[in-house]
Amino acid sequence: MTKNVTWHDGFVSKEMREERNGHKGAIVWLTGLSASGKSTLARKVEEILFQHGLHVYVLDGDNVRMGLNSNLGFSPEDREENIRRVGEVAKLFADAGNIVITAFISPYRDDRQKVRAIMNEDDFVEGFIKCSVEKCIERDPKGLYQKAIDGAIPEFTGISAPYEEPENAEIIVPTDEQTVEESVEFLIDELKRMKIIE
Ligand code: ADX
Repeated sequence: MTKNVTWHDGFVSKEMREERNGHKGAIVWLTGLSASGKSTLARKVEEILFQHGLHVYVLDGDNVRMGLNSNLGFSPEDREENIRRVGEVAKLFADAGNIVITAFISPYRDDRQKVRAIMNEDDFVEGFIKCSVEKCIERDPKGLYQKAIDGAIPEFTGISAPYEEPENAEIIVPTDEQTVEESVEFLIDELKRMKIIE
């Protein structure tokens, strides 16, 4: 529990940062199975927005688990803590005026909902990167699905651990029906529709 601590606002507000940047600070929360395309999409969209002069940053599961969350594994409790920390970090990045694109499996609805709950409604969109587990197994870029099927990796999402599909995602990107380029274009159009970008 947090005791004897109070939040201090600075003299530079989120609104002032947004006005200077010319766009809002927000979280684009991508969720989906391993190999569904979260990281690829996040990075490509990041590159395009960056080239258009936007302040954008990707937080990615594999990277964050090498540092900040290197003490966490893949039990339900550790995944919950992973998403809680990432949510708080993403909120700080958004408060600093960035469009933060997160790429975490984030398999539990509750955990994603908790991140949504710490944000203003207009500053959070959930993007479901929708790809069947069969297709993810076929892609298997890191060979992890095969290892999970062989029993060498326990609690692997989609094989021996659950993935709870979003019920109220603002954006659904069906990557198993699109080329990467189509998904990138589609996601950018959806971010415009959601008024995250212009
Ligand atoms: S999450 O479930 O806590 O959101 P996160 O996105 O951070 O997961 O990390 C997922 C990445 O960790 C996968 O892309 C994969 O490379 C690796 N990984 C290693 N073990 C597992 C596992 N048991 N389940 C899922 N991903 C795993």
